[in-house]
Amino acid sequence: MRKLFALVLTLAVLFSAASAFADVKIAFSQIGQESDWRTANTDDITKAITSHPGWTFIYDDAQQKQENQIKALRNFITQNVDYILFTGVVSTGWDEVLKEVNEAEIPLLLIDRMPDCADKIEYEAAFGGDFVEEGRRQIAWVGEYLKAKGRGDEDVNVVIMEGTTGASAQTGRTEGNLAGLKAYPHLKLIAQQSGNFTRAEGQAVMESWLKSLEKIDVLIAQNDDMALGAIDAIKAAGKVPGKDIIIVGCDSVKAAFDAILAGDMNCTVECTPLYSKFVVDALEKLIAGEKLGKEIVHPAEGVFDTEGGIDLGTVTSQKAADVIASRVY
Ligand code: AHR
Repeated sequence: MRKLFALVLTLAVLFSAASAFADVKIAFSQIGQESDWRTANTDDITKAITSHPGWTFIYDDAQQKQENQIKALRNFITQNVDYILFTGVVSTGWDEVLKEVNEAEIPLLLIDRMPDCADKIEYEAAFGGDFVEEGRRQIAWVGEYLKAKGRGDEDVNVVIMEGTTGASAQTGRTEGNLAGLKAYPHLKLIAQQSGNFTRAEGQAVMESWLKSLEKIDVLIAQNDDMALGAIDAIKAAGKVPGKDIIIVGCDSVKAAFDAILAGDMNCTVECTPLYSKFVVDALEKLIAGEKLGKEIVHPAEGVFDTEGGIDLGTVTSQKAADVIASRVY
């Protein structure tokens, strides 16, 4: 009798646990597919949610248009989804639609880029890159690398290729880049322009800089895709990327590792796209009735280069060749 009672109890617990995870509709409003980072981010989240028992995934690709994202969010409300994952192509202009999400009482999880109105809306959890720190690391790497090469007192010309104007990844990294430059007076900023986080625009911007600027010593590209596009432009102009022009990217995608190993690129500052473990963990906790903190969780990230051992204060660079085998994106 006792055994039967224990069995019934176990089954009841298992059944209620299973039903707690059943038929949960999770919708994701994604920006687009502008970069290798974005593809890895979409794949990571899609795979984790679609393979989770009892979860249904609804995905919308906004193709870089804010109006498409607003439409998608309103569609999610109409479809009465259970949770919304959101990253905004730019940081402003979300107040109204995110308040509508709140009014519909759909729990919201912010990932990657944060909206400016985050302090005025309700959300359950937030996971994103520390963009200001990433920008600071890019400049600090150049300053410390030049010092290590005995070139710390040399005036060098720096260009900054920025991401999509108004995206928190662009504003944050620019803030970090400019703050970083203050610590290295020999790094002279001679141009700043958006390459929209894409390879094609990175190439076009570098082509025009190579024609209009007398001497470029360092390229800071706010993502790896733009750095890779710029490398094509530099080669086409008969210069040697990685030597004539020092190139620092951001994201640490596989293609940047390959470029570093080939000697075309010098460094990439990591910004991980792999948020699925945070998202799944948060969703499971929310579904089980737990409350989570509102602070933005920044994953720990590295810096990878040709050298290894460049001390940036908050992190020391690792030689790309030593870690390439363990990279997942
Ligand atoms: O928001 C993250 C940034 O967006 C990545 O650095 C970039 O590659 C992407 O497009």
